[in-house]
Amino acid sequence: MSKPLCIALFLLLGFGLQAQEVLRSNTGAPVGDNQNSKTVGEYGPVLLEDIYLIEKLAAFDRERIPERVVHARGAGAFGYFEASKDMSEYTLAAPFQKVGQKTEVAVRFSTVIHGKGSPETARDPRGFAVKFYTEMGNYDIVGNNLPVFFIRDAIKFPDMVHSLKPSPVTNKQDPNRFFDFFSHIPESTHMLTRLYSDYGIPKGYQYMNGSSVHGFKWINKKGEMVYVKYTWVSKQGEKNLTVKEAAEQQAKDWQHATVSLFTDIKEGRYPAWDLYVQIIKAEDIHSFDFWPLDATKHWPEDKIEMIKIGTMYLNKNPRNYFQEVESIAFSPGSLIPGVEPSEDKLLQGRLFSYFDTHRHRLGPNYLQSEVNRPKMQVDNYNSDSYASSRNQNFENADVNYQPSSRAQLTDDNQYRANQQMIKQAKIGQKKISKTNDFAQAGEFYRSLSKQDQKNLISNLAGDLGQVKDKNIQKTMIGYFYKADAEYGMRLAKALGFSQKDFMK
Ligand code: HEM
Repeated sequence: MSKPLCIALFLLLGFGLQAQEVLRSNTGAPVGDNQNSKTVGEYGPVLLEDIYLIEKLAAFDRERIPERVVHARGAGAFGYFEASKDMSEYTLAAPFQKVGQKTEVAVRFSTVIHGKGSPETARDPRGFAVKFYTEMGNYDIVGNNLPVFFIRDAIKFPDMVHSLKPSPVTNKQDPNRFFDFFSHIPESTHMLTRLYSDYGIPKGYQYMNGSSVHGFKWINKKGEMVYVKYTWVSKQGEKNLTVKEAAEQQAKDWQHATVSLFTDIKEGRYPAWDLYVQIIKAEDIHSFDFWPLDATKHWPEDKIEMIKIGTMYLNKNPRNYFQEVESIAFSPGSLIPGVEPSEDKLLQGRLFSYFDTHRHRLGPNYLQSEVNRPKMQVDNYNSDSYASSRNQNFENADVNYQPSSRAQLTDDNQYRANQQMIKQAKIGQKKISKTNDFAQAGEFYRSLSKQDQKNLISNLAGDLGQVKDKNIQKTMIGYFYKADAEYGMRLAKALGFSQKDFMK
């Protein structure tokens, strides 16, 4: 062999070997053969003592964890939020204190109803969840693309989701079931109007706005409180798909939203959103013709100013989907000093539900995983259970209780919950009196262009037309009529009703 060929071969083999590390078992032992099980003779049987084979199969058997009960299909990305306004007058919240201040974020966008492998062309609200890794702990804004919700009380949520999920008998989503439910829920009229407009199928995750839906409380350093609602405005512009475009997209590639987000970030077209807040002073909260802490209500921009407070940029894709997206856990209860929950009845139920489902879905110590843990050392006396990896590196680690004369950890009373007067009221189960179920649905309908109104009527008629019970159809038409007479009449006509049908 010639000398240069020898050198080339040596370099090739040498570099090849160097680049590959030794495959190891989970306990760290080098793997001798990853292709052949340990057998008696050439043909078997296979031995139970092949510990590596058993480890490999057992790991595979446990690869799946329960998917999210809602919002199972999603895509995630990472980046940062940069503040453009000092909001310290209103809140202590760490990301909003200084102009130019940057906070790392993780984001997950999702569809709601169907399973993990479902198409991204569905008419469905889209989840818009953002985790800020702040120096005061993790702060999550767990919102949706649409600024309102179907219901205002958490007690209705499981029934609503059951009606929207596939039937327990046919395993198919069925408008007969969910319109049966919504015909008893007049407050859903606003959300249904938005969902059946073309905003119900965003073109991709980059092209949708986001909303916290609920009002939260912001607290400043003097302990003063205001109510605040968040809106993310896409710098890529809002773009939606018509039913026809969605069908064409679905035939080509129904994972397009995931692919498009990943590709844009990979190729340096980083998507960005401006963050706006609307603020209502505590003393003004009762001054509207709707209850602002009712999640079926939008906070009108002409009455409550939109204030831009910063911009979020997504510039990093996940390295491992399971570890960084499937395992990420967002909760509306993940709050930091300066933000507290409002009395919104839907939000109050969510405060329980997310932490509860995370313990079920990801295990009790999920907040110790890389993507979920805060970016600082967390020390407290919660301990043990499955997959506990927290290292209590105190000198006197045998003191795992407090108060104690030897405890190294103490609470800091400046972060006590804000104090607020509650007017004397009866405990009981009561609907809010200011329901105003239809006005904002009508305003939204009238704000649409002629073409968008036409699409809304045809989208609604498409699903409502599948409902066999005429009384359900009529009740739904009645709600849309109350929102806007023309809207109701056009829908009735599209469904084949005449005026006489409503006189009976
Ligand atoms: C996910 C419950 C209303 C936005 C979830 C999950 C549950 C849940 C159990 C799965 C979480 C997980 O496994 O990690 C509820 C309940 C609600 C409610 C009980 C009402 C009482 C809402 C509303 C919004 C919303 C009003 C929007 C403002 C989301 C988002 C996710 C989610 C974005 C996905 C988070 C992620 O990407 O991991 N919800 N939800 N939910 N929910 Fe809700």
